[in-house]
Amino acid sequence: MKSALKKGGITLKFSKLALSSMLLIALVFFLVACNSDSSEQDNNDESDTSSANGEQASEGSEEEPVTIVYARGVDTTPGTEAVIKAFEEKFPHIKVEQREMPADTGQSHDQYVTLLSSQSSEIDVFNADVIWPAEFAQANYVLELDRFIEKDGINMDDYFPGTVAAANFNGKQWAMPQYTDAGVFYYRTDIVDEPPATWDELIEMASELKGENGTEYGYLMQAAQYEGLITNAIEFIASYGGEVVDENNNVVVDSPETIKALDKMKEIVTSDFVPENIVNFMEIETENAWIEGNAVFARNWPYMMASSNDEERSEIVDNVEMSRLPAGDEGTAASLGGWMTMINRYSEHPEAAWEFVKFISGPEGQKISALEGGRAPTLSALYDDPEVQGVSSLFANPEFREVLQSAVPRPVSPIYPEVSDIMQIEISKVLTGDQTSEEAAKNMQEKIEAAMAE
Ligand code: GLC
Repeated sequence: MKSALKKGGITLKFSKLALSSMLLIALVFFLVACNSDSSEQDNNDESDTSSANGEQASEGSEEEPVTIVYARGVDTTPGTEAVIKAFEEKFPHIKVEQREMPADTGQSHDQYVTLLSSQSSEIDVFNADVIWPAEFAQANYVLELDRFIEKDGINMDDYFPGTVAAANFNGKQWAMPQYTDAGVFYYRTDIVDEPPATWDELIEMASELKGENGTEYGYLMQAAQYEGLITNAIEFIASYGGEVVDENNNVVVDSPETIKALDKMKEIVTSDFVPENIVNFMEIETENAWIEGNAVFARNWPYMMASSNDEERSEIVDNVEMSRLPAGDEGTAASLGGWMTMINRYSEHPEAAWEFVKFISGPEGQKISALEGGRAPTLSALYDDPEVQGVSSLFANPEFREVLQSAVPRPVSPIYPEVSDIMQIEISKVLTGDQTSEEAAKNMQEKIEAAMAE
């Protein structure tokens, strides 16, 4: 290079240019290398080794057979089977083995934590409840999905913003939204024309109508001491204008609104129009009693519409409608639920795992799970699909999108399980008559504050 510099002006100019371009190129390479080094260091080593292996495997031999394990809670609808079948037909070299986890999300959570914290590669992909991402991301249990999302050009703006935000922590995307949930009200159209508008109306109608058309109960809800109790309680609390944690992360649960809400909840749980063992009811018990035709009204998630119209299981096909939950003093409120798909950081097949995640959370997978499983899509465009609209009148109804979008989230925190445990214990004690709503509100306030201050 130096000898070129000594030659004539033009060469010198050219050489200077060449030199500077080369330096520039070298610099760019250097920066790229540094950048990818540092981002690899940011991530966990294992994930990068395994994903690098995965990439090689899928590049070199696309058809090399691989089996991935997909864990999710009990699905009482044919939705999951149908999505897996469609995926395996499209990707014949990837076999998906299903691992069924407990129906109770809290029990599933604990099993995942045991498995993931031991860095086991037993499962590759799993369904995560909307309340887990902050905790799982902080514990480094799962792969960040940003690089997969970018590589495949997935537009996260196609998804409901709330569901994307719920899976984002520290600026990274840890999960893909699979379906969203909001608490909804079911009623029997062979018994009533219009659902009750308020909790007080519900109480009146449920006690009057129980016994009609072979029913035994007026109302079914989830009152067992588990996560579902919190979603039911939050609906009562919000419908009376209360909150657990406010937008500034202050605990504000000890309020007259909470007390009123818990009193109303207790009135319903201890009434004679609910099953005597309602404090053992989760979603499955609700669904079983409901599809047997045992109740006039019920609270559950959107999937119960698919079960209600399942000719093989249900006694009440075509006799069911959904609506918003009854209102308290402040209005009607639905709890935000939903599930997303995550990849185990220690999966040995991250590429195949991503292929499955992409499918199940993409338009094809979500449509199947809406049609076969009654699940509410997180991709807004699917609500314009006539087949999806055919699943239930609420999917067809723009008001339902509103219910889904305005659903009330549970407190977002890496220590959410602790917050939930506190609430489960305190609220259960109200329902079983072991303490007053005032005591529960005060105890929740103190205990949640203490847990969050740790
Ligand atoms: C549903 C919801 C989930 C919630 C659970 C409670 O599965 O989607 O978010 O935690 O019910 O039982």
